[in-house]
Amino acid sequence: VRQDYDEVSAYAAYYVKERIRQFQPSKDRLFVMGLPTGSSPIGVYHKLVDFYKSGDVSFENVVTFNMDEYVGLPSHHPQSYHTFMWNHLFKHVDIKKENVHILDGNAEDLDEECRRFEAKIAELGGIELFLGGIGPDGHIAFNEPGSSLTSRTRVKTLAYETIIANARFFDGEVAKVPKLALTVGVATVMDAREVVVIITGAHKAIALAKCIEEGVNHMWTVSSIQMHPKSLIVCDEDATLEL
Ligand code: GLP
Repeated sequence: VRQDYDEVSAYAAYYVKERIRQFQPSKDRLFVMGLPTGSSPIGVYHKLVDFYKSGDVSFENVVTFNMDEYVGLPSHHPQSYHTFMWNHLFKHVDIKKENVHILDGNAEDLDEECRRFEAKIAELGGIELFLGGIGPDGHIAFNEPGSSLTSRTRVKTLAYETIIANARFFDGEVAKVPKLALTVGVATVMDAREVVVIITGAHKAIALAKCIEEGVNHMWTVSSIQMHPKSLIVCDEDATLEL
């Protein structure tokens, strides 16, 4: 538990930076990461960029897989997760373009796109560290309440609550928010050798309580991290209100 968003971001960024550094990635030994979007990781990304600029970390031998992407938004759309990732992280660091993997929400065959994504993760030996955020309803990636805890990357219909929550990024207009997304599954996240979840704000306090004080429950998909052998939640004081 840290005081506020800034301290959560600083802690999580330092943690990620140290993991990359300790792993000693090279071209024959790539560090494979899973990454989220949303407002939660913005502070982490900005601090990682600072670490990169001060020479404390390099992304040259880092491979990334993003958790999710909307279906049907052009990749250059200001609210696409492609745009988000390039603006907040990738264009500021030395990551190689071919090492960035983001689901293509405009693929002709969306199911095939999801299979391809899972196959690529497997080909690279799995994910070392999955960084995540959650929605106020406890979803991790776009694994909405009711998602199977054994789910893999797939097409998902967004919950109405998520559409409303994300309308703030679409001029506050619910009608502009895509209704479908591609998302890694709960099992895709849980397969990572380590999972780090950032949870900030009072609006996520119930989700945090459900996640750690109640049983593993597919209605609060982030609760699955209770089953993970190496997981960490970095949260702020506000998010602990219901504990
Ligand atoms: C979306 C994303 C999630 C993210 C969530 C929370 O639903 N698919 O991966 O964790 O938003 O967003 P924020 O961090 O802005 O609260």
